[in-house]
Amino acid sequence: MFAELSEEHIKYREKVRKFAEDVVAPKAAEIDESGEFSWDTFKKMAEFGLLGVPFPKEYGGAGLDDLSYAIAVEEISRVCGSTGVTLAAHVSLGTYPIYDYGTEEQKRRYLIPLAKGEHIGSFGLTEPNTGSDAAATETTAKLVGDKWVINGTKRFITSGAIADTIVFTASQDRSKGAHGISAFIVEKGTPGFSSGKDENKLGLRGSVTSELVFEDCTIPKENLLGKEYEGFKIFMHTLDSGRISIGAMGLGIAQGALDASIKYAKERTHSGKPLLKYQLIQKLIADMATEIEAARHLVYHAARLKGMGKNITKEGAIAKLYASEMAMRVSTKAIQIHGSHGLTKEYPVERFLRDAKLLEIGEGTSEIQRIVIARQILGK
Ligand code: CAA
Repeated sequence: MFAELSEEHIKYREKVRKFAEDVVAPKAAEIDESGEFSWDTFKKMAEFGLLGVPFPKEYGGAGLDDLSYAIAVEEISRVCGSTGVTLAAHVSLGTYPIYDYGTEEQKRRYLIPLAKGEHIGSFGLTEPNTGSDAAATETTAKLVGDKWVINGTKRFITSGAIADTIVFTASQDRSKGAHGISAFIVEKGTPGFSSGKDENKLGLRGSVTSELVFEDCTIPKENLLGKEYEGFKIFMHTLDSGRISIGAMGLGIAQGALDASIKYAKERTHSGKPLLKYQLIQKLIADMATEIEAARHLVYHAARLKGMGKNITKEGAIAKLYASEMAMRVSTKAIQIHGSHGLTKEYPVERFLRDAKLLEIGEGTSEIQRIVIARQILGK
């Protein structure tokens, strides 16, 4: 099944799967039910080296490639979407932009503890009034003396309230739209920076989703990330890769739903025969497996291209779009196979369905992915 992977990637998958089953899976239903973040799981992911998979060892990372990272997100999400999104948001969104755009000093100060998992990273783009239209950022940044003064609110920020380091966008000149936006780094505890309410969500309930508030928050001049007025591009480039990790989450959730369905269909009997013996059930399973395999090729292809340093705007969006919509279809079929049992919390498949829904929204809705793909093919 994984014939296209190297021996190292196959071994890495086995290692992460064992970690996911031993450490992450036992808490998945509990954190979904309580809506509580598991600090213990985060700490164990850090010890395992998951929180810095694609970053060089000299910066505290595991020194592996982007495909290994996609496999890690897939395997964690196969048992727990909440833990999968915590990992994906930390690595792809909170840490990657510092690796890609940070100065050497910023890398030493922020990247190393993030990649080691000593700190949690987060990415503040979305605002109460601007989600899909990211260029309409209302948060402002003004340079006063040698400090940036930030005002505004971010919303729906994964790990926002628990993060130590947050990269975020703010506009220096709102009349310039996307070209007026710069990117910055803020540390937890900075005066004028606080977190507001934590969202009570449909799915991914064991992950934290917060409001972030800047009220005359002052940060040092050197906390600009990249160049002035380049923040929109930095964030779009970051999302190109982040979308691969959302695709990997879709892959993992769908695989988890398929595995649970096969187990159920082997054990459950109908008129004296296991469900698996019925061709209509076999059709559902064949369709689920086919779609998962197609998504796996798209996600791994995009991850490989990223590792080669290619532009992946189109491939990242395609991988995310297909894998997230596929995860919805597959988890719906998984509930169908389970019948009434699938609607209860005795089985994981209703959780997979709720968790999959976020994937069609976070890091750009399916509608935004279609716009991005069409623009890549047709031009703007
Ligand atoms: N890489 C680099 N530069 C890019 C880029 C990319 N992928 N995409 C656009 N740009 C550049 C453009 O080239 C353009 O620059 P020039 O004018 O110099 O050529 C500039 O950025 C502006 O681009 P557009 O004119 O295309 O911008 P737009 O306003 O039309 O918007 C959009 C484009 C695709 C709709 C964009 O706004 C978008 O992706 N929106 C969705 C935002 C999103 O995904 N939000 C998710 C939030 S994060 C999240 O959910 C995380 C979480 O915690 C779960």
